[in-house]
This record gives sequence, C-alpha cells and structure tokens, in this order.
Amino acid sequence: MYAIVTKTQLAHKETLFEVDAPDIAAKAQPGQFLIVIPKQGGERVPLTICAYDVQKGTISFAFHEVGKTTKEMGTLEKGDHLFNVTGPLGNPSEIKKYGRVLCVGGSIMIAPLLLQSKAMKAAGNHVTTVLGCRSKEFLFMMDEAKAVSDEVYVASDDGTIGEKGMEFLSDLLKNERFDRCVVMGPVVMMKAVSDITRPYDIPTTVSLTPIMIDGMGMCGVCRVTVGGKMLFGCVDGPEFDGHKTNFDELIKRQRTMLPEERLSSILWETDGGCQCGRR
Ligand SMILES: Cc1cc2nc3c(=O)[nH]c(=O)nc-3n(C[C@H](O)[C@H](O)[C@H](O)COP(=O)(O)OP(=O)(O)OC[C@H]3O[C@@H](n4cnc5c(N)ncnc54)[C@H](O)[C@@H]3O)c2cc1C
Ligand code: FES
Repeated sequence: MYAIVTKTQLAHKETLFEVDAPDIAAKAQPGQFLIVIPKQGGERVPLTICAYDVQKGTISFAFHEVGKTTKEMGTLEKGDHLFNVTGPLGNPSEIKKYGRVLCVGGSIMIAPLLLQSKAMKAAGNHVTTVLGCRSKEFLFMMDEAKAVSDEVYVASDDGTIGEKGMEFLSDLLKNERFDRCVVMGPVVMMKAVSDITRPYDIPTTVSLTPIMIDGMGMCGVCRVTVGGKMLFGCVDGPEFDGHKTNFDELIKRQRTMLPEERLSSILWETDGGCQCGRR
C-alpha cells in the first residue's frame, strides 16, 4: 500500500498526489511513468512521474479525471492509500546540453513537462517553456514553470489567457532558433506542435500515451508506429520522434475501448461511487 502524503488540487478535475514510495523515488528519472492501481481489483492506470524526492522517499504524479478509475482516484484524500504503484517504467528522457530547448506542455501533462524543463535547465540549456490549457481556469503551475525556465509563454484554446492556440509558435520559431523541442500533452496537440517544428528541422520528442495494460512489453496493447516501424509505447518509449510518429493511428487506437470506458464510468457514477455530493 502506498500512502498519499499530499494532495494538491491543480484545477477542477486535475489533481497532484505525492506518494510515499522510497524504492521508486530512488530510481525515478524524468520521462518515466508509473502504473497505478488505486483500489484492489481495480484497473491499471499509467501516469507520468512529475517529481521525485529521494530524501523524503516520495514520488508525485498528476492526473486528469477522465474515466472511472481516475474519477475514483480523485475521491482519495491525504492519508489514504493506493493499492499498488509499479515503476519507474519506460525509458528516461534524453537530457543533454542541446543549447536552446523549447518545452511545450498541454493540459495535465504540464506537470511532468516541468520535470523535463527543470532537468534541461540543470543540464545547461536555455529553456523556453510553453504552458497550454483549454482556458484560464485550467492553467496551473505558472510559478513552478517560471522557476525552472528562462522564458515562459501561455497559450489557451479559447484565448482567455495568453496566446490563442499554438499557432503563435510558428512566429516564435521564425524569430528564435531552437535546438530541441519536447512536447507532452494531448495527442492532437503533440501532432500540431510536431507539424510546426518540422519545417524548421528541430528534433522534436513527444511522450506517447497509447492504451497500456502491463507497461512492461508483454501484452502488445501499446503498439505505436514510428518511422514505419511497429514499436511498444511502454518499453521502446514513451518518448519518440514526433516527426516520425503516426499520430492518426494512435488517436484511432486510443478510441478502441470508448463504449466500454463510457459504460464503466456511468455504472460507477450511478452506483454512488462518485460521492457526487462532494463536488
Ligand atoms: C505512458 C502514459 C503516461 C500517462 N501519463 C498521464 C499523466 O501523467 N496524467 C494523466 O492524467 N494521464 C496520463 N495518461 C493517460 C491515463 O493513463 C488515462 O487517462 C487513464 O488510464 C484513464 O483511465 P480511466 O479509467 O479514468 O478512464 P478510461 O475509462 O480508461 O478512459 C476515459 C477517457 O480517457 C481516454 N483515455 C483512456 N486512456 C487514455 C490514454 N492512455 N491516453 C489518453 N486518453 C486516454 C479514453 O479514450 C476515454 O475518452 C498516461 C498514459 C500513458 C500511456
Ligand atoms: S503495455 Fe503491454 S506491451 Fe506495452
């Protein structure tokens, strides 16, 4: 059992947990992920590590409540326990001195993206971080972004804060040279940013989120196509070349279980599991 040491509400349905897991904290690196089973007999949920503290023996991850398991996890409080946490899984990010690095995060993936910004800065890079959100009320971790970056930009889908959409990146790239781009966020956003960096030949890394089961290379559910080759998101990734990724296939595969996922969420809510009164 893994105790929740702190619970931070980042936005309405976005939460950050710091969890007591010394063995994982001792090995964790930026870019890696965990498989969390919040309750015994429950589903396995892959979540990206967004902080680790070797001294305290804790790891942190942030999640967006999208379906049954993440909604259920959102009802847990500080002092509650997660049934199981496995990790660190996947390959660490390639952190080197590249020069000028552009780190782009969207939605809940802003949290793990900032771990990359921090590591890139510590490696001696000039770091520009872009925080993307749906609208003003979904923006979080602005101060944390400023603390680990040389420059910070904000973009929202509806223009309620910062730039409207990610198109401003085209102008940014026309005026500033970048040696590397790291993108973490919804698949459509990672695709759009990869399309923007491609004409400038900026090596672009994306963190892919295919449906996963074991997270250890055994089931094959997490197949992705990169550079025409079939690879496993969990053991070959989760980070891949954004200019070679078949995003359309990934989007299609992510939707494979949609009817079952919707049903599972509805059944849980109608069963009273959601404790809707607390919202
Ligand atoms: C390597 C990896 C790292 C991830 N890191 C994070 C993270 O740090 N924070 C976070 O909030 N989420 C992250 N995800 C996505 C997260 O695992 C899913 O949102 C979660 O499994 C949904 O579980 P659920 O039962 O609540 O919803 P489900 O009932 O399984 O799904 C509900 C909705 O979410 C969509 N969904 C399901 N799985 C995924 C997925 N893998 N990617 C995108 N959409 C999905 C479904 O299409 C559906 O619309 C990551 C996924 C992977 C593979
Ligand atoms: S999740 Fe099973 S092989 Fe990757």
